[in-house]
Amino acid sequence: MKEKYILEKRIEKGDFNKGGEASSKLKDLLRKLGVDSAVIRKTAIVTYELEMNIIIHSEGGWIRAAISREGIQIFAADDGPGIADLEKAFQPGYSTASDQVREMGFGAGLGLVNIKNYSDELKVDTKTGVGTKIRAIIHLV
Ligand SMILES: Nc1ncnc2c1ncn2[C@@H]1O[C@H](COP(=O)(O)OP(=O)(O)OP(=O)(O)O)[C@@H](O)[C@H]1O
Ligand SMILES: [Mg+2]
Repeated sequence: MKEKYILEKRIEKGDFNKGGEASSKLKDLLRKLGVDSAVIRKTAIVTYELEMNIIIHSEGGWIRAAISREGIQIFAADDGPGIADLEKAFQPGYSTASDQVREMGFGAGLGLVNIKNYSDELKVDTKTGVGTKIRAIIHLV
């Protein structure tokens, strides 16, 4: 794999209909590139959880993915409100999702836990009132 592939997708707040589009697009691209299926699975889970968190918890943002020899980098950035207590947010079962969102099947409080478990490298940069940037890297082997 010589080239660097980039995927960029705008994620709108509350746009549940398009939830999962970024992760499926990335999945398709990785399949075409012949990436190992276990790597694709991990990448899809991480991307899905990142895009759903933007839809559910943020004012909207972007998902970007770069694929290179080093691995797959997924970058999620949103316009706020930021995560007030990161330590809490990473605790299994912690969720601020509304009842309405829970009725749709979200809000188990496991998204960030899964993102952490399935990423080889993870960096979270969040600021209350500003936004959240999360960079996850999944190695190719
Ligand atoms: N991009 C974000 N912006 C603001 N807050 C966020 C963001 N992502 C996560 N959070 C906060 O962290 C909490 C935990 O996130 P996590 O993804 O683990 O669970 P969840 O989204 O509530 O439920 P699940 O992912 O299981 O459907 C959220 O409930 C929310 O309070
Ligand atoms: Mg979540």
